[in-house]
Amino acid sequence: MAKIALTGIKPTGTPHLGNLLGAIKPALELTKDYLAFYFIADYHALTSVKDKKLLHEQIYKVAATWLAAGLDPEKVVFYRQSDIPEIFELNWILSCFTPKGLLNRAHAYKACVDKNLEFENDPDMGINCGLFNYPVLMAADILMFNSNVVPVGQDQKQHLEMARDMAHTFNQNYKKIFTLPEPLIQENVKTIPGIDGRKMSKSYHNEIPLFATPKEVRKKVMQIVSDSKGVEEAKDPDSCNIFAIYQHFSTPEQIEDLRGRYLAGGLGYGTAKQELFERLEDSFAEGREKYNYYMAHKEEVDRILREGAVKARKIATPLLAKIRNSIGI
Ligand code: TRP
Repeated sequence: MAKIALTGIKPTGTPHLGNLLGAIKPALELTKDYLAFYFIADYHALTSVKDKKLLHEQIYKVAATWLAAGLDPEKVVFYRQSDIPEIFELNWILSCFTPKGLLNRAHAYKACVDKNLEFENDPDMGINCGLFNYPVLMAADILMFNSNVVPVGQDQKQHLEMARDMAHTFNQNYKKIFTLPEPLIQENVKTIPGIDGRKMSKSYHNEIPLFATPKEVRKKVMQIVSDSKGVEEAKDPDSCNIFAIYQHFSTPEQIEDLRGRYLAGGLGYGTAKQELFERLEDSFAEGREKYNYYMAHKEEVDRILREGAVKARKIATPLLAKIRNSIGI
């Protein structure tokens, strides 16, 4: 049987170019070799997003982005976490195999506690149990489908180790039910600078959105920080943020051509930005159309996700029955 790759996408922001290169493209690449289970981790988002309209909108934005980027729902099992009740039952079962001390050591929880201590507040101020239990729900997402590999960013590595721990403890106590998942951390993952030159990230507010209107994209591109060299001066392409982003969306000929003009002088940064904007338009005009289509036809997104959930439950339902049976319930 084909090996399973599974990953969850938390709908907590509007997808940007960095997400496309760092997560979406590599995950879609994997679908050639694995049976892929990709899902919207909507209940994970609830630990932080408490605004009904915002959460609802972000779920569709994320789903529409993956579909527009080329996810084929005929090939990928694409679903919403909240449509799979088995995951939440497994969440409880796994929590009974999770030492509380293990969760005390989770990076995300610890970071919140440290922040409280820094401000001399109660260590658990503002921390809900959903955030504390986050790693258990994530383990349930993964173990529910006997995933073999889980493509994630470096920041999720500890969560994967915890999932393996839970699976191992359970397997030792009963019979071997769970597959131990391997994290798949893209080492040479492509990172691109944001408009301020730091890594493009939602938390820095420096992102270029993926399928925004041409006007919005152009505005962001024009804000990219460069040095203050004048038009006539020769420029260094390799230390330039505009050039760094340009390289990801252009042909080798276009890249060489722009490099030559940087080095020769006579090219202003405004022109380079305009050309970058044009390359982005070449790359994303078609995707934007698809994205807008799905955002205007949310019922179609719902249908796709519902069909994905039916496929996913074909695995989850019998596996949960086996789990219940092995614990004596
Ligand atoms: N915690 C992941 C993130 O913040 C999202 C996620 C939820 C996930 N469940 C998952 C990732 C299961 C991989 C597997 O990005």
